[in-house]
Amino acid sequence: MSFIKKHEKLEKNSILLLIGIIITVLIGGLVEIIPLFRMETVIEPVKGVRPYTPLELAGYNIYIREGCYNCHSQQIRPLRDEVARYGHYSLAAESMYDHPFQWGSKRTGPDLARVGGKYSDDWHVAHLKNPRDVVPESIMPSYSFLARNGAKIDDLDQHLRTLRLVGVPYTDEMIENAEKDAIAQANGEAKMDISGLTQRYGENVNARDFDGQPNLVSEMDALVAYLQVLGTMVDFKATEEVEEAAP
Ligand code: HEC
Repeated sequence: MSFIKKHEKLEKNSILLLIGIIITVLIGGLVEIIPLFRMETVIEPVKGVRPYTPLELAGYNIYIREGCYNCHSQQIRPLRDEVARYGHYSLAAESMYDHPFQWGSKRTGPDLARVGGKYSDDWHVAHLKNPRDVVPESIMPSYSFLARNGAKIDDLDQHLRTLRLVGVPYTDEMIENAEKDAIAQANGEAKMDISGLTQRYGENVNARDFDGQPNLVSEMDALVAYLQVLGTMVDFKATEEVEEAAP
């Protein structure tokens, strides 16, 4: 029996054909899906991307708790108008340590993927307390209570440990020092020794009193620390210069 004849048998028997189709689709599906479980093959690592410091992570948690993602995306698409408005398009690696990621498509307010360094801390504090004080036509809600609430930092080690379970490379040392690092970052060099913090997370970590209340590590400190690091980990200027210099 030739191959065509065998195939004819398959085509004329609907049950056999169905089983054949299922097997073929399953193989195709597995080939596509299995490699995705190995994260390092999906996301190209990019220099400069690091896990959040404990204080930034506390801010990230507040960002989610307050539902900021309902109005703000954190994903700049590779389209001309987006890049002109927000800066370099987002790379997958830039959100590889976000669990859950904050990409989103809802933009009642602007995209925040590169808001870090765009405004001063004072601007953010004023804006979060009452957006209309700095942007008169704003419809963003007021979050003034964040400046009054102390940030919950005594359980940050557990947050770090949990994130490590899903692949964020926090070390034992980072976990042990989570609370200490959060306090150091919210005080800054002027008031505290931040050498442990910078040794663990890099020289570029923003460490200062973000909210202007020196005696309180507030939720405002945490959220502003988080906003100020968004989109700043990768040095795109350096990459662009290298690209331009290349023949
Ligand atoms: C109801 C929708 C809404 C929610 C919820 C919301 N925002 Fe906004 N946000 C806006 C709008 C609209 C603007 C633009 C006007 C302005 O600057 O206030 C904005 C602007 C901003 C900006 C300035 C961005 C820029 O590039 O100028 C920041 C930063 C910001 N929001 C942070 C937050 C954070 C953090 C939260 C959660 C605590 C939050 N927003 C919650 C609507 C929202």
